[in-house]
Amino acid sequence: MSGAPHRIEVMHGVNLDQLGRRDPLLYGTLTLPQLEEQVEHGARELGMTARFFQTNHEGAFVEHLHGLSDHADAILLNPGSWTHYAWAIRDALEIAALPALEIHLSDVDRRENWRRVSVIGDLCFATISGRGPEGYRDALVLLREQLDQRAAG
Ligand code: DQA
Repeated sequence: MSGAPHRIEVMHGVNLDQLGRRDPLLYGTLTLPQLEEQVEHGARELGMTARFFQTNHEGAFVEHLHGLSDHADAILLNPGSWTHYAWAIRDALEIAALPALEIHLSDVDRRENWRRVSVIGDLCFATISGRGPEGYRDALVLLREQLDQRAAG
């Protein structure tokens, strides 16, 4: 890679601040700060930087997306249950106009039917689901590849 390191914005939505208290069979045992620490480490190993944001307020999530274009090169987002119905988040992600990867700790396609719907999926260049915290490592690798490809034109 040449130039400045790729800047990854890692965004977690509603209830993801409660990791560590949620069903460990679905979401594992890491707290969000522990997960973020792993992601920060993984990003550094890949020569990238990671910045983190979590909120339980949909409007705050939307406004954070509005302000991203000057601060990030790509978005890694797990909007929690907003994924399945929050059209305002979809619109804001479109406005952000950055490469985005959708991630879920649990396997949303093998749970309730309503979790199979993603309102952001087609705006994302990839989706990772059901690989737990390891999935975030895979996501960082894909983000790095995607940003390198774009930089190479
Ligand atoms: C989740 C899956 C969503 O369906 C759920 O509402 C969450 C977490 C995941 O990471 O597996 O809150 O996004």
